[in-house]
Amino acid sequence: MMDTNLQQAKETLEENGYLKLSTPESMDFAAEIKKLKKEKNAVILAHYYQEPEIQDIADFVGDSLALSYKAAEVDADIIVFAGVHFMAETAKILNPSKKVILPDLNAGCSLSESCEAKDLKAFKEKHPDHIVITYVNTSAEVKALSDLCCTSSNAKKIVDSVPLDQPIIFAPDKNLGAWIQKETGREMLLWDGACIVHEAFSIDKLLKTFEINPKAKIIAHPESEAHILKTAEYIGSTSGLINYVKNNEANQFIVATEAGILHEMQKEVPDKELIPAPAQEDNSCACSECPYMKMNTMQKLYLCMKHELPEIHVSKEIQQKALVPIQRMLEISSR
Ligand code: 13P
Ligand code: SF4
Repeated sequence: MMDTNLQQAKETLEENGYLKLSTPESMDFAAEIKKLKKEKNAVILAHYYQEPEIQDIADFVGDSLALSYKAAEVDADIIVFAGVHFMAETAKILNPSKKVILPDLNAGCSLSESCEAKDLKAFKEKHPDHIVITYVNTSAEVKALSDLCCTSSNAKKIVDSVPLDQPIIFAPDKNLGAWIQKETGREMLLWDGACIVHEAFSIDKLLKTFEINPKAKIIAHPESEAHILKTAEYIGSTSGLINYVKNNEANQFIVATEAGILHEMQKEVPDKELIPAPAQEDNSCACSECPYMKMNTMQKLYLCMKHELPEIHVSKEIQQKALVPIQRMLEISSR
């Protein structure tokens, strides 16, 4: 179920007819977006899973952690977040005086949707001696109930920062949680959430791809299931994966994460071969794509900058509470 603030925001937008706006067929979106960036003193932050044209026009492209650091220091009037809702909300929490806009308010996340604030609150009440570490892929309300946040680049460091005798609830990604348990040797209470994109990989097809390309290195994002992670030579966040491919001597990689990452990766290693890990379902890209990330298009990016809509709102009370675990994360992460 969608949180009420988001539901209300969507209804208002629909009433205003914003979603029915169209643009001339011949419009050069890249040129118009560049003009709007200047005119409105706006900064575009984009995640690696965005469409290539969106990544190319962004002022900064990064993983969830880097995007949070960047959002906190933005000095421009408007932050245009080319990513999903929880990312734009995190930017608003970190930099509340800025206007934060997102091209499509429906760009959610299966992990965030798996963990509603009321359910986490009830779970916490059942385990009052536990602290709560949540992945940033959660709503502001869930962050407000958390003691610490983490991303895939710093989850191990964040868990390691907690005293050994302190029990932990880890939410919402059970795959990332299970991997962190293995890495740290810590038992944690894991929430039952997962990323639909990383759970879509087929182990049989992956092994077949490896059989055909035996010199390739398999690398994977920790949101993937344990049987996929077992095959990987390297496991890391989106930026970790890019750096690994850049610094490793191999010339061929099978990449188990959302296919949007291949754009930046290929720019970094133009002479290496990058093979997307195959999904269970046969689809046109023979890979796994995030349907939420792909809701953002150049047309929607243009429209959202032109009309400064949809805007992300977070109540002052939730913003102040949610800021605490995010700031703790940024502080521990930068040590
Ligand atoms: P990172 O960019 O932090 O690796 O996260 C991946 C992701 O799933 C974002 O939705
Ligand atoms: Fe959420 Fe997975 Fe999409 Fe990332 S890739 S936004 S975790 S559904």
